[in-house]
Amino acid sequence: MATAPAKLILCGEHAVVYGRPAIALPLADVRATATVTANYSTNESIINAPDLGGRWSIAERPDDPLSGLVKTVIERFGISPQIEITIRSAIPIASGMGSGAAIATAIVRELLALSGQTLPPAVIAGLVYESERGYHGTPSGIDNTVVAFEQPIWFQRRPNLPPLIEPVAINVPLTFVVGDTGIRSPTRLPVGAVRERWQADPVRYEALFDQVAALVVAAREALATGDVPALGHLLNTNHELLREIGVSSTELDQLTAAACAAGALGAKLAGGGWGGVMIALTTPDRATDIATALRAAGATNTLVTTIAPAAAFFPDR
Ligand code: MEV
Repeated sequence: MATAPAKLILCGEHAVVYGRPAIALPLADVRATATVTANYSTNESIINAPDLGGRWSIAERPDDPLSGLVKTVIERFGISPQIEITIRSAIPIASGMGSGAAIATAIVRELLALSGQTLPPAVIAGLVYESERGYHGTPSGIDNTVVAFEQPIWFQRRPNLPPLIEPVAINVPLTFVVGDTGIRSPTRLPVGAVRERWQADPVRYEALFDQVAALVVAAREALATGDVPALGHLLNTNHELLREIGVSSTELDQLTAAACAAGALGAKLAGGGWGGVMIALTTPDRATDIATALRAAGATNTLVTTIAPAAAFFPDR
């Protein structure tokens, strides 16, 4: 069995699609798993995904992004197609927590283990990116990258070059409360809407993206120095800018306001927006109260998670 983590975008979503930097965090304790078993009853690989509501052969659904991913990996690594891949995931779909990237990464890791091969995280991220394109249309690549690296990352697309991927130093443990609006929002929808608005008014949107980039730079500094209150302010600023970009919602605004009223240091929507989750940064002693306040304000689910301090290097894998 292979697994892969959920992710949260700490700051910079949407602007990251337009070449600005963003910071993403893996959520080690919320994971997707993939298990391969032999299945000699057919020559076609089967994907069995009870949490995604289906069991299908890749020939039956050739346009499904996971079918495409499995086909690519088994052909590339000479794996017998007579397999059944069972996927389980604790990550809510279309919630901004990288469910698609985590499932795809768990599948690639399991298939690689089966073939006795290892690949660096950047190569796994590249394979998963292709399947993410099926879900998102024009993903930046940040989701598949943070999930494959399983480390806090700085991510920035560059013209005619591979994206810049750097480890992010975190000086102190960070406690977050994640609040789920319960509203499923496939990332490609807000991403597509932002693209239309950007096309209609590039000057305004480029300026908004520049403001996001500036706060992401400041957030990296706050993480390195352990200035958690400063980070909280930056998350609030990021939420305001995401509102202006047009990807928040009444529910996300209510939850972020409730978190701040309950003592959070800062709060923002996380991921594509319009639904899905928000995050609140807090001191550990306030986490339970904030989770209670979020549920009272309509969150269908809450999760308290701690991001451990991290060094600014990628360990060899
Ligand atoms: C989704 O986790 C982050 C977005 O910026 C989309 C992307 O980067 O592909 C909204």
